[in-house]
Amino acid sequence: MALWNSRFRKSLDKDALKFSSSIDIDGKMYNEDIDGSMAHVQMLVKQKIVSANDGKAILKALEEIRKEIAAGKIKFEWQKEDIHSLIEERLVEKVGERGKRLHTARSRNDQVSLDERLYMRKEIKNLIKFIREFQKSLLKQAEKHKDTIISGYTHLQRAQPLLFAHHLIAYVSMLQRDAERLTDCMTRANRSPLGAAALAGTTLPIDRSYSAKLLNMNSIIENSLDAVSDRDVVIELINDCSIIMMHLSRFSEEMVLWSSQEFGFANIDDSYATGSSLMPQKKNPDIAELIRGKVGRVYGSLFGMLTIMKALPLAYNRDMQEDKVHLLEAVNTTKDCLHFAAEMLKNTKFIKNRFEKELDGDLLLATDLVDYLVRKKIPFREAHHIVGEIVAQCVEQNKKLNELPISDYKRVSAKFDSDIFVILTSKTSVVSKLSFGSTSPKEIEKQILYWKNILKTQSR
Ligand code: ARG
Repeated sequence: MALWNSRFRKSLDKDALKFSSSIDIDGKMYNEDIDGSMAHVQMLVKQKIVSANDGKAILKALEEIRKEIAAGKIKFEWQKEDIHSLIEERLVEKVGERGKRLHTARSRNDQVSLDERLYMRKEIKNLIKFIREFQKSLLKQAEKHKDTIISGYTHLQRAQPLLFAHHLIAYVSMLQRDAERLTDCMTRANRSPLGAAALAGTTLPIDRSYSAKLLNMNSIIENSLDAVSDRDVVIELINDCSIIMMHLSRFSEEMVLWSSQEFGFANIDDSYATGSSLMPQKKNPDIAELIRGKVGRVYGSLFGMLTIMKALPLAYNRDMQEDKVHLLEAVNTTKDCLHFAAEMLKNTKFIKNRFEKELDGDLLLATDLVDYLVRKKIPFREAHHIVGEIVAQCVEQNKKLNELPISDYKRVSAKFDSDIFVILTSKTSVVSKLSFGSTSPKEIEKQILYWKNILKTQSR
């Protein structure tokens, strides 16, 4: 029977009940629901609203129910409206009248908001763990590729040579911000709405701070109406997941490109690639593509949540029950994708010498020539113009920069000497970078050390 049945002369239509049941989703939060109820009942006992004996019996039964659910002894059937109803019903079955005191000074409105916050708290920690795992796998590859030279791109056109480690560390750094965003979200998620009751608070002498303390929460959400009305923290967490997914999608896109024959740079282990049912030669980067594709789910959840909340009058509305669908989808997809991005990367071999020779003398060294002229006191804009002319001649003659004779260089500018050929290798290009955070081996060594230390302390 529904928790609210007595006011009605008929029970809810069977199909309508099935339509409105959320047990398949909020059932996954049974641990959080029980934790919240245990804190609530301890507070009621402390405040002498419920006797110590009743409190003890309720606590013991709740612990048993937790075990029953974990052991699969309680079925989550749609006939139960939600996890709150299911647990309360089982409690009353177990301890009779005493169990009916649990919901004193509480509504499912503050209860569900609390459950979600406890769930988010747990999952934020998990997400950060998965981020660390991926960062470590990036860093490990970076260490292997401290001297592997690739082309860096802008507009997917060759731009300047890079150390591959530099490219990988860029992702480590992006993911660090993702972890920071999650940590920040935690400060808001970890506040207790419990005791807001339905919306207006209660006439009973509860102690909201006490139950919050028992749950190890930062603080309470003071305004009882706000506590039950908003889901901005859910939106915030899904937003944080969306940004992570956007980063993972860019990385996956690069894995797809790198593993193409045209790039011929990445060899994803057979255990993380798939074949074609028709074309026998195919080896496809499906895991990377799936990560890229699953972004759609998480962005979908973000827009789903924003849409649900956009015109809801305060306070609780049943629309809000849909939030958990989006929250779980976003969190689970993001965790999975972080995990598989890390595993795929661990199981990929990058071909160290794929680009270095090819890039020697390549037009992507044009900027190095500009810097050369700048060192000879030619104003930058003029130097850019001169090298542009050199590039044009190379393109016309289908030559690399190091194939154009010095006499041609000198015809464009007398400042060119034959020492330009020394700088026209991809290696010299990266080695001669001086600026902080640049792609030089020295800077990369520093960056690797920096991130190793960060990850060591933060993984503790
Ligand atoms: N299953 C509901 C949800 O997830 C719980 C809150 C129900 N509250 C209510 N007043 N109908 O949103």
